[in-house]
Amino acid sequence: ASANAAMPGQAASLAPQTNEASVLTILYGSQTGNAKSVANQLKAQAEAKGLAVKLVSMSDYKTNQLKKEKFIAVAVSTYGEGEPPEDAENLHAFLASKKAPKLDGVKIAVIGLGDTSYEFFCQTAIDFEDRFKALGAETIIDRAELDVDYDDEAAVWISHAVTAFEPELNTNEQAGAQPSAMNGFSAPATQASQYNKQNPFNAELSLVQKITGRDSTKDVRHVEISLEDSGITYQAGDALGVYFLNDESLVDAALNQVGLKGDESVTLGQESLTVRQALIEKLELTQSYPGFVEKYAQATNNADLLKITEDKAALREYIEARQIFDVIAQNPAKLEAQAFVDCARKLQARLYSIASSQTEVEEEVHLTVGLVEFNAFDSEHLGGCSGYLARRAEDGASVKVFVEHNDNFRLPNDDNAPVIMVGPGTGIAPFRAFLQERDARGAEGKNWLFFGNPNFTQDFLYQVEVQGYVKSGLLTNVDLAFSRDQAEKIYVQDRLREQGAEVFAWLEQGAHFYICGDANRMAKDVHQVLLDIVKTHGGKNDEQAEQYLKELRSTHRYQKDVY
Ligand code: 2AM
Repeated sequence: ASANAAMPGQAASLAPQTNEASVLTILYGSQTGNAKSVANQLKAQAEAKGLAVKLVSMSDYKTNQLKKEKFIAVAVSTYGEGEPPEDAENLHAFLASKKAPKLDGVKIAVIGLGDTSYEFFCQTAIDFEDRFKALGAETIIDRAELDVDYDDEAAVWISHAVTAFEPELNTNEQAGAQPSAMNGFSAPATQASQYNKQNPFNAELSLVQKITGRDSTKDVRHVEISLEDSGITYQAGDALGVYFLNDESLVDAALNQVGLKGDESVTLGQESLTVRQALIEKLELTQSYPGFVEKYAQATNNADLLKITEDKAALREYIEARQIFDVIAQNPAKLEAQAFVDCARKLQARLYSIASSQTEVEEEVHLTVGLVEFNAFDSEHLGGCSGYLARRAEDGASVKVFVEHNDNFRLPNDDNAPVIMVGPGTGIAPFRAFLQERDARGAEGKNWLFFGNPNFTQDFLYQVEVQGYVKSGLLTNVDLAFSRDQAEKIYVQDRLREQGAEVFAWLEQGAHFYICGDANRMAKDVHQVLLDIVKTHGGKNDEQAEQYLKELRSTHRYQKDVY
């Protein structure tokens, strides 16, 4: 047990000098950093046991190393419709290609992170395992497929994985047992704030202002949060994790529907609290997920629900039309408080791309939040977090937050490099941060913004600021696509295509290209147009154009923040 408590990094300097064959290579593919943090935990635990470990981002991994590997652990998340995170894309494709080497005898362990609210849950982890196996590798432990509340199960899987690898690798019993005093701690690379996902900062919500027009089809809020006295720092491109409280009136209705008063006590992990408090603060009750329906169907022995859960497609359709509150309201039953809370998963903070630069706003952080709202079953439904922010707009409430660093979405280090930003809808958020940052830095590189939304008069987010930046010269070019202001739909990618020659010229001048916003359609369509531009204006064939974008990506000049 004491080995598990070792400080991360402690054993690194003691890692035995061994040949490649006895090294555990941990590959991670991570969009928001969760899989990376799991990979780091695995590294720390393996090192604490004296194993030699190499931790590599999939995007930095040289595929010609594969032939030399004997032990590989993969920690990877899944996005959208079963897609790999950006940094995993190349390796994911490589393993399925003819170029992939035979990996007979290689031992692998795969841990997948995902979200059961989506259909292709943990698909990327499944792909990696399948592809490694097809090349001859064998699993040393069953694959983990973990939902958004992965922390506890990840810890269990990690310790099983280390136990499985330990006898196989050339272990050095001494290393794990060394007293830490011998090592001297190395200072962390950056001064991290004391606040994180597990320990968020309780911040003041200073402003929640609707920035779409009265007649807009959307309700987008500009949110300002004070970070005063927190010591929290962030960079343009980072995201903010935001915790929220469930709507008390919906919680009280749900308690009533399962025959509870609310003051019954329950335990969640180590914590003991009332069931009402648990429902308000700790459990996911808006965004629907299959796990709740399955557990609730069993706990209440509800024949109709049980039938739905037997059919994957029916279950998916059922949850897509409902929030968890609806499932309860439509299936009232008598339940013990603990049995009830055990049906739900832990509430997760929502991540929003930060819309401000600290060089500009100092101890504040700004967000651009699309309010999720829809009508269902004769009542108005609001999204969990966006609804909370909207409800709290009036009363200067507090909100628990932490910064999620995202090194995969960064301005160029070179202030003279041109920047092209494609951010329709709330996808404009990180580009407001980029522009503030470049403005504050006095960066001389050219900036080009592509923005789109339904209507010019209703939905031109941050119009005054954008026009100000055009006037000051910070924005060299702005192209707008107001999709519903004319008979034909016009989207950002249409503007991009129109400007193809100049876009390509900018790329040739070293421009960095960024996309933020909808992952499922927009980002794919923009990518396709970008390929076409490189073909048409760069005179390249399909393969060469693919290669051109691959090159952009590997040199970090093509970055996406999509959701
Ligand atoms: P629409 O809703 O009028 O079809 C922000 O949501 C903007 O993105 C809206 O103007 C929306 O248009 C547009 N949009 C919808 N689908 C898109 C796609 N595939 N590519 C780019 N923009 C899209």
